Amino acid sequence: MYEWIKALHVIAVISWMAGMLYLPRLFVYHCEAEIGSKQSETFKVMERRLLRAIIDPAMVVAWLAGLWLVWQGGWYVSGWFHVKFVLVLIMSGVHGFLAGRVRDFANDKNTRSQKFYRIINELPTILMIAIVILVIVKPF
Ligand code: HEM
Repeated sequence: MYEWIKALHVIAVISWMAGMLYLPRLFVYHCEAEIGSKQSETFKVMERRLLRAIIDPAMVVAWLAGLWLVWQGGWYVSGWFHVKFVLVLIMSGVHGFLAGRVRDFANDKNTRSQKFYRIINELPTILMIAIVILVIVKPF
């Protein structure tokens, strides 16, 4: 049973991360589209669907399966897990921040630059690399 839930966890994590890496990229392109243009309206639909149909549900499944693994595996006493937990909380915070930006774009109220979204794009990547090393290598 443990291995099956772990597989579900990894599937959910892959879907969550795919969306978290792609959404800021969409924002970079969306910044170039003129407000009210057909292109801008298409980006709005793509962003909303990506968030609601993939990123949000994948995060919920990753959290539920992850917490079950922590409880079943007794990982709450392990150092690597404590650090992973903090990084996952930051990842969830970035998720919330990006969801807010989807709302801004939907209301034609984006105030941030293309450069800002290029930089924020790197944050989930760095967090993901650190989390995977922690969970696979378990260095402490
Ligand atoms: C949402 C909160 C999360 C919790 C509570 C959580 C917790 C856990 C736990 C307890 C395990 C089992 C470790 C083991 O059996 O050795 C695990 C496995 C794993 N987690 Fe997470 N995790 C979370 C999110 C993430 C995220 C965001 C990533 C990647 C970006 C990730 C990547 C992985 C991977 C790759 C494994 C499989 C490791 C293996 O093969 O042993 N997890 N997770």
